[in-house]
Amino acid sequence: MERLRAWLDREYSKIQEELFAFLRFKTISTDPAFLPEHLKCCQWLSTIFQEMDFKTETIETPGLPIFYAENLNAGSEKPTVLVYGHYDVQPIDPIDLWKSDPFEPEERDGNVYARGALDDKGQIFYAVAAARALLAIDKTLPVNLKFCIEGEEESGSVGLAKSLPSLKEKFSADYLLVVDCGLPDAETPAINLGGRGITTMEVVLKGSTEDLHSGLYGGIAYNPNRALVELLTECWDETGRVQVPHFYDDIVEGDKKLFASSAINDSDIKAVGIEAFSAEKDHSLLESNWFRPTLEINGIAGGYAGAGFKTVIPAEAIAKISCRLVPDQDPGKIGELVADFLKKRVKKGIQIHVDVQHGGKPYRGNPDSRLAKAVAMAYVEIFSKPCLNTLSGGSIPIVSDLVHTTGAEVVGMGYGLPSDNMHAPNEHFGLDRFKKGILTVARAMHHLGQACQ
Ligand code: BES
Ligand code: ZN
Repeated sequence: MERLRAWLDREYSKIQEELFAFLRFKTISTDPAFLPEHLKCCQWLSTIFQEMDFKTETIETPGLPIFYAENLNAGSEKPTVLVYGHYDVQPIDPIDLWKSDPFEPEERDGNVYARGALDDKGQIFYAVAAARALLAIDKTLPVNLKFCIEGEEESGSVGLAKSLPSLKEKFSADYLLVVDCGLPDAETPAINLGGRGITTMEVVLKGSTEDLHSGLYGGIAYNPNRALVELLTECWDETGRVQVPHFYDDIVEGDKKLFASSAINDSDIKAVGIEAFSAEKDHSLLESNWFRPTLEINGIAGGYAGAGFKTVIPAEAIAKISCRLVPDQDPGKIGELVADFLKKRVKKGIQIHVDVQHGGKPYRGNPDSRLAKAVAMAYVEIFSKPCLNTLSGGSIPIVSDLVHTTGAEVVGMGYGLPSDNMHAPNEHFGLDRFKKGILTVARAMHHLGQACQ
């Protein structure tokens, strides 16, 4: 550990410069126009990894490219760890609320501000720096390392999901380390042993062939905005339970006792001003975040909500809906159940189209795996505190498929905090936590190598 800290002190300014260079790529995955940025970013990652004696490859997919690197010099008696993260980021809007350019990283009060500073460039880059540290100090890695840094996580990992069967051999590993998670707070070490699945859909209601004057047609035409809000309110009963038939059928009970700590605590809730709660009756907030599925309206559009007023009955209204899923709910099945429910309930005469889009299954890791123990041990060394087992309410859509394809045991780790503005304007990451990330991954790989002598 002391040699690691000394190495980090010497090398840190270079690593931070590289992190900032990584953050400058505009790798927004929701917009195909950014593909050249994705390719440039993969090229840049190749240079970084080649300097570390890794074989590198940019893997084309039907979606956005995946960056892959491996160093298997530890030998076949050592385990292989596939490290997963993503180089793509969420869109930057609303741009006016950013205090600095989202793609020009800026250091303020010990934090780096940029889109992707936390999610996930800052996190995956500390894992890269950890590999470099191990190679510099010991000349060899304690385990075989593979990195899958994909470019489409924030858009459902569609390309990777389609390409995965053909990557089975390449990605085969004993362990999967997902570096895209967080801690309950800056002082509490925790490993992540699961996340919720997700299914996403777009709902379009159409009432007329074109927008109508709300005086001329008011009282005659049924407004699609009204049809949409009436339809959506039917999704829950007064206890907060989702009303879609069979929505809860496939939930398995039983893993609750393994997990004790809340990811979002009271001060986080106050910090973002939440005073209205959506937990179902008889379920705590923690339970509702980790162990219960949700149906959420992520966006609604229809008619005119700009400056001034427009007396219009819009031709159509749109809603973007997602469901967070828990074991063993299936994204495709839940998508269809919700779509059927909406189609059956919509006001007669209003046309409805539901497009079930990308999704991912929920997943769970084993708290007793060697990787879980190695990562927990590394956190304990760094914090001198016990390490908690946590879950996440968020989704990393490809993890379940990766686990099934590779046969690896999964553990998630991370240094994100609920206050880091993930997906929001002014996303940031504490540079002290970035440094701890380097130490944690390096020590965890060391412990895993030792455990598998
Ligand atoms: N890093 C997050 C997942 C996450 C969120 C982990 C909160 C731990 C706590 C990931 O990059 C993410 O945001 N995923 C999306 C996936 C979606 C766009 C398909 C999510 O959960 O909304
Ligand atoms: Zn994200």
